[in-house]
Amino acid sequence: MKSKKINLRSRAWFDDPSNPDMTALYLEKYLNYGLTIEELQSSRPVIGIAQTGSDLVPCNRAHVELAKRLKDGIRDAGGIAIEFPVHPIQETGRRPTAALDRNLQCLSLIEVLHGYPLDGVILTTGCDKTTPALLMGAASVDLPAIAFSVGPMLNGTYKGQCVGSGTIIWEARKRLAKGEIDYDSFIQQVSSSAPSSGHCNTMGTALTMNSLAEVLGMMLPGCASIPAPYRERAQMAYRTGKRAVEMVLEDLTPSKILSRQSFENAIRLCSALGGSTNAPIHINAIARHAGIELNITDWQEIGQHIPQLVNCQPVGEYLSEDFHNAGGVPSVVKRLLQENLLDGNCLTVTGATLAQNCDNAQCHNEEVIRPFNRPVKAHAGLKVLRGNLFDSAVMKVSAINEDFSRRYLSDPATPNAFKARAIVFDGPEHYHREINNPALDIDENCMLVMRYTGPKGYPGSAEVVNMQPPTYLLAKGIDALPTIGDGRQSGTSGSPSILNASPEAADGGGLALLQTGDMVNVDLNTGLVNVQLSDAELQQRREALSPELHYPESQTWWQEIYRAKVSNLDGGGVFEDMLKYRRLRDKLP
Ligand code: FES
Ligand code: MG
Repeated sequence: MKSKKINLRSRAWFDDPSNPDMTALYLEKYLNYGLTIEELQSSRPVIGIAQTGSDLVPCNRAHVELAKRLKDGIRDAGGIAIEFPVHPIQETGRRPTAALDRNLQCLSLIEVLHGYPLDGVILTTGCDKTTPALLMGAASVDLPAIAFSVGPMLNGTYKGQCVGSGTIIWEARKRLAKGEIDYDSFIQQVSSSAPSSGHCNTMGTALTMNSLAEVLGMMLPGCASIPAPYRERAQMAYRTGKRAVEMVLEDLTPSKILSRQSFENAIRLCSALGGSTNAPIHINAIARHAGIELNITDWQEIGQHIPQLVNCQPVGEYLSEDFHNAGGVPSVVKRLLQENLLDGNCLTVTGATLAQNCDNAQCHNEEVIRPFNRPVKAHAGLKVLRGNLFDSAVMKVSAINEDFSRRYLSDPATPNAFKARAIVFDGPEHYHREINNPALDIDENCMLVMRYTGPKGYPGSAEVVNMQPPTYLLAKGIDALPTIGDGRQSGTSGSPSILNASPEAADGGGLALLQTGDMVNVDLNTGLVNVQLSDAELQQRREALSPELHYPESQTWWQEIYRAKVSNLDGGGVFEDMLKYRRLRDKLP
């Protein structure tokens, strides 16, 4: 590539005639793995590859191999690839919870993009929090950035049955509790749901967030759903690498792609996917890092009445490989565009609009991606609830199954409303210790409450609101009780739950005042959830709250910093202070 020198950011390190001493210092170490001065000074865009895969992060581990094809693409388009690690996040391996590290991975990416000689970046996404963490960081820095997913695992099967990762565990646990299977079969059944490299193969948080990255315009069309082991995945890596270089030359930055309209598109697509209840937290966080207004009530207003078209587990039947072979995100986008439910004019990483990208998309299987006249659920979005226990919480109405509707919502006197006796747990350890205690007298008219599990209480916020009923109720065929909590729920479990209550109990939220035995009214018509207590009684309980900690002490300094800085889940669980630092690429260190 021989051309006149273009004004790349990396030249401030590698090619600054006004500062020869520093240029020499910046150059010298980058030469010692074989790069030449000519390459570094020849106006080739330097593309960072933010590597999230490692032996610690099996979901994203294929990125270690795929980076080779990213680099081939970068090189063929005239760029220079520089791969670097970011703080690892693995959803199921990180204790106390991977949510503790989303903002840390974001922070670590921001510091790298700001402080090193990079002109653009490829974000290697996959496992749940890696996608939002990297998009949040890229939005803050505003270097040209493109996301590249590792892709989901192949479909899982167990004894001829299709089994999805993260979903089968709920069923297998129940079967173990009922004594239908032994421990060895339990482990086998669960692990057979994860048959290959890649992220979870249901429409859990990982596939939801990567699909939303695609509709936001931050990923090449079709990228989200290609299974990790397919050849198309590595071919997509090559195309992504090439495109990253072109984006630098076009100065196509996240601030030109991410807009209020593209976030509204993400909310609508999330409903059509039957996506994870973690999506509002992460999408709101990305929007806030991009400087765009988006709040939790937008999710209800924009997304609630969109039908669910994608028939994937946990709400539907199929898995990600089927979703991919049916046409993936572009074919769902096309369906929504045909109904005028998305803004097709939003710009994307291709340099073309969303509508242009998906113009030729086709659906190859109408059981997996349903037409509008035959949706999986007619109204798939989230309901936002409020009342005297919290300012906001969300409920995935589409997860309410027939059994629950029959038992709780079918009283003709109070349609779509029920009341339940609260059984309160302070964290998952308390729940596991006490759930089978006969003294609690839990029956089908109870609601299980999980508190002190929000971002401050269980640092990061735990996916523990989906609680199983006591064993004796399971044995009677009561598979799920309504639950409520200030934590999150795994994107892949089936019980009807009121989640993400904000403010959380550890931050002065009303759930702290609730006691076992209190009656709670839930009205899905009005969106009100109220404990049957007077304001005076609630105030008295607030004054009587004991000052000692109701949740575990911090075990590390990072947990302490995190707790001091984090905001509630309705605002995305971001660090408000971090939002001050935007468009960092213009602030050369
Ligand atoms: Fe990593 Fe599901 S645990 S994607
Ligand atoms: Mg999950």
